[in-house]
Amino acid sequence: MLKIEELDKTFPGRTEPVVESFRLDVRRGEFVTLIGPSGCGKTTVLRMVAGLLEQSSGRIFVDGKPSVGPSRDKAVVFQHFNLLPWRTALTNVAYGLEIQGVPKEQRLETARKHLASVGLETHGGHYPGQMSGGQRQRVGIARALAIEPKLLLMDEPFGSLDALTREHLQGQLQRLCAERDLTVLFVTHSIDEAIYLSDRIVVMGVKPGRIIAEFPVTLRKPRGDYNFRAEPEYARIREEIWTLLDQQLVRADLAVS
Ligand SMILES: Nc1ncnc2c1ncn2[C@@H]1O[C@H](COP(=O)(O)OP(=O)(O)O)[C@@H](O)[C@H]1O
Ligand SMILES: [Mg+2]
Repeated sequence: MLKIEELDKTFPGRTEPVVESFRLDVRRGEFVTLIGPSGCGKTTVLRMVAGLLEQSSGRIFVDGKPSVGPSRDKAVVFQHFNLLPWRTALTNVAYGLEIQGVPKEQRLETARKHLASVGLETHGGHYPGQMSGGQRQRVGIARALAIEPKLLLMDEPFGSLDALTREHLQGQLQRLCAERDLTVLFVTHSIDEAIYLSDRIVVMGVKPGRIIAEFPVTLRKPRGDYNFRAEPEYARIREEIWTLLDQQLVRADLAVS
């Protein structure tokens, strides 16, 4: 569903690339997570895939077609909710469909269905300012799903939420992914979150940002239904990723001093 070939990014006025030779294939229905130290280029990769930032070189394909610029087959959920404050939850969710020219009754109907799928059917008339962070992020997810994208891109979507809300939303996301066979490229700092959600975890290193390791996660799903953290596979992946990230943090520090 997503194919990234040899992606490089050097920002104007810089000599060092931020991202170098980034290559990744994501299968239909697969949940792939990028994890790596702060500043390694995760957001940069995601923005290039979303078509919000132009790469210096390399190619991106979605469902076999070259992907250039933003398009309706890709939806993005950021850490900060980016909801329109003057619109209700329902009309925020309908926003993407409105841009696509979907007639009013039809888009509100679709938006209601997606709000319900994140458990907010009774909050359609609320404005973002009247909702909690977790509710706002669920509206953001419903808005992304409402356009029925081929690819869902998520950049630390739960990063600013408290731990309990975060766990709750991880569970909801896992359920949505299973129900709809979503293809997701997800970014997080949390190894635990990565293992809980992913079919595969891609570890990025720093200077330049590049892939240094990949871990398939074969733990049975849904992982909320049993204590997956007690499984040997969980402990092994956690330990290996932790060691890699620790080495990268040392590298990043050395590179600054
Ligand atoms: N628009 C920009 N211009 C110049 N440098 C940038 C720009 N955006 C990001 N960077 C730099 O690129 C690097 C990677 O950033 P980012 O992709 O946000 O990292 P991450 O999401 O992994 O924390 C950082 O060093 C950051 O300062
Ligand atoms: Mg980032």
